[in-house]
Amino acid sequence: MSMKTILERKGKIGIFDSGLGGLTILKEIMKVIPDREYLYLGDNLHVPYGDKSRDEIYKLTLAGVEWLFSEGAEIVILACNTASANALRRIQQEMLPKKYPEKRVLGIIIPTIENIGVFTRSGHIGVLATEATVASKIFEIEMKKKNPHIQMLSQIGGKLASFIENDEEDTKLVEEIQRVTSNLLSKDPFIDTLVLGCTHYALIEEKIQSSVPTGMNVIGQGNIVAQKLAHYLERHKEIEKKLSEQSSVHFFTTSVEAHTQKMMAKFYGMHIHLRIIETLV
Ligand code: DGL
Repeated sequence: MSMKTILERKGKIGIFDSGLGGLTILKEIMKVIPDREYLYLGDNLHVPYGDKSRDEIYKLTLAGVEWLFSEGAEIVILACNTASANALRRIQQEMLPKKYPEKRVLGIIIPTIENIGVFTRSGHIGVLATEATVASKIFEIEMKKKNPHIQMLSQIGGKLASFIENDEEDTKLVEEIQRVTSNLLSKDPFIDTLVLGCTHYALIEEKIQSSVPTGMNVIGQGNIVAQKLAHYLERHKEIEKKLSEQSSVHFFTTSVEAHTQKMMAKFYGMHIHLRIIETLV
């Protein structure tokens, strides 16, 4: 694993995803907490994580988090549901106390569960997520703890994450959205709220909204996570006081493909300076 430091200063907020999806979280966090220094790392070389084993997801996520720490992140947000579902707890319980007791790693699933209940009238919520997230049953388990009256049902989003990473044409994307959402609704027609439980899907939120029945709430996680992080930092001054107030963002990827640069810029909404780092594992 490469640990050669690129950036000098400390005090950064790290954002990690398997690829492009975390940009949807980064953008919302930067709206709510603009005066901070951000490091974005997309492991585009290994994307998708969604069809990997729990162990592989853990290994890759751990490597990403350690790299972000080595570049001065004090806190890392796993802007990836697959990593939050399959690696977060182990990182928090095993790796952090042993190696980085002063640093923090947060996921995005619990904040989503805590805030999603207000959107449903029927009490039935659907989640579109990757295979590894659905297999973990984390949305169902955590919602049962938070509010047992809400029915939660997760559905695998098929090839959507790969299609997004590969800039697949619109007709194929829309076909896949229709296939997975009608599959979900055939299992529970009372669902009135659809959580985009894979950060990649929020990149095509409008396409998803226009493919589902009128009146369905389609909810991305970006704003929820951003508000939660702001509250977290207010409550955890020991972390907040270490953060740089220089408003900036640095982008990194593990992929050498020119295509990655193009897609990052497309989804971030402007030209970015993307740096390639050596393979993490
Ligand atoms: N963006 C990731 C998530 O939120 C997953 C995409 C992938 O399969 O790598 O789950």
